[in-house]
Amino acid sequence: MSFSFPKKDLIPEEFQISPKHQKRYLINGELRTWVGKTETVLSPIFLETETGLEQVVLGSYPSFGEVEALEALDSAVKAYNQGAGEWPQSTVEQRIVAIENFISLMQTKRDEIILFLMWEIGKTHKDSIKEFDRTIEYINDTIDALKTMEKDSSKFITEKGILAQIKRAPYGVVLCMGPFNYPLNETFCTLIPALAMGNTVVFKPAKFGVLLLEPLLECFQKAFPKGVISTLYGDGAKVVSPIMESGNVDVFAFIGASQTANIITKKHPKLNRLRSVLGLNAKNPAILLEDCDLDAVVPEVLAGSLAYNGQRCTALKIIFVPEKLAEPFLEKYLTLLKTWKRGMPWEKDIMLTPLPEEGKTKWLTELIEDAVTLGAKIHNSKGGMVTESFMNPAVLFPVSKQSRVYHEEQFGPIVPIVPYHNIEETLEYVRDSNMGQQASIFGKDAKTIGLLVDRLVNQVARVNINTQCQRGPDSFPFTGRKDSADGTLSVTDALRAFSIRSLVAAKDEESSKEIIRKIVETKSSRFIGTETKL
Ligand code: G3H
Repeated sequence: MSFSFPKKDLIPEEFQISPKHQKRYLINGELRTWVGKTETVLSPIFLETETGLEQVVLGSYPSFGEVEALEALDSAVKAYNQGAGEWPQSTVEQRIVAIENFISLMQTKRDEIILFLMWEIGKTHKDSIKEFDRTIEYINDTIDALKTMEKDSSKFITEKGILAQIKRAPYGVVLCMGPFNYPLNETFCTLIPALAMGNTVVFKPAKFGVLLLEPLLECFQKAFPKGVISTLYGDGAKVVSPIMESGNVDVFAFIGASQTANIITKKHPKLNRLRSVLGLNAKNPAILLEDCDLDAVVPEVLAGSLAYNGQRCTALKIIFVPEKLAEPFLEKYLTLLKTWKRGMPWEKDIMLTPLPEEGKTKWLTELIEDAVTLGAKIHNSKGGMVTESFMNPAVLFPVSKQSRVYHEEQFGPIVPIVPYHNIEETLEYVRDSNMGQQASIFGKDAKTIGLLVDRLVNQVARVNINTQCQRGPDSFPFTGRKDSADGTLSVTDALRAFSIRSLVAAKDEESSKEIIRKIVETKSSRFIGTETKL
């Protein structure tokens, strides 16, 4: 299937976009107007004009300096007020009311957010809808999990003469930074649980996917008390460094590259005080076994390796195929890949789209050239061919252990296929990799799969059988070993990650019980209580 950028007047009316020059930013509950320097937002989409291809300018957003960055932090610190602020002192019921209000307001921005998802990061219309709706579902599930958590912790327990009530309390100020590939969903998968547990938040959108969050600023402002959520825009090094160096961030929630996470984390002057919730690099292997059913495996591996152009942390980023199966696997994979439509995110049934990262196609080309120099061939016609921000997927076989793409995470449309003779070679790869998020095994024999599972579960955090790697369902733990993650994110785990178990304890004797009874009766404590109206 061929690829070309469109002419402006051929874009359907409902998908046309007007530039947005974002002036608003949220600090201390105020929607302020920005008058300083701005960052330009370029779309991954180019348009065909009479003078050639022109990259679409989507707009601009504020570029903070150190002063504004510290102001955003200061408003979060004040709102937390050492745990005495309105938000950390609010009841779970009050927090749920605020979050539910936020959901209703957010629903009104659905179409605008979906449109910007397509234009800012090149995500298909179908997947942009999915990202929005999945995020709403995640927030609703978070509310349900919070209710259950509150109910479960509402009773007192007695153990060895000590009476106690154990609950969860917030940590303090959270810095949330999401990734460009899921700029809404993955940002909210940390931001919402952090808020739900009573923390205050400073959040910085990813480098791409900034404007799509602008409509939500007024929703945040209306739904939450002042300072509970503030925004940070601009160059990461300039705005994140002073915030971390201040020592006032209690939790660093970040989904992105492990190198970046390390640089930012190290800036905190009190490392033992800083909690981290990190989702980092991954290089998940697909391991095909000799008895696998290729007709079923190929669609799964193709989707796993190339959905959203391979720009998913959970994507299958290296495919191990038994030597004997290599030829039929390649043939079926290439045949199916040919049917995948390339084009613009709004086109029907489109699968492959332009890439948002500037310079990415050049970097991917270097990876391809390196693999080819070391013996791999590009097996699909036009594989690796670049048109501005679009790269036609490159299916590489046989990829050698020496090549960069064998080790490095491509996060793009390159499919490295490695033939193996002995299954131990695949386990060696997993063992030697710096990453350890997930793996997928494809086969039929229960004994072989069982043995492989036992080896892999001690190297990665999720082993998938005859299915691609993925994050969902969101109630399942999502984490990684080695350099792939720190902390676990599921709906419930995220609530735990942003809170610490805190308890009130007393001797199990009448005088203490009397005090506690009175506290409960008179509701003189928010924390202590034996009933919930949830
Ligand atoms: O980029 C990493 C995402 O968490 C992957 O999520 O498996 O639902 O695409 P997904």
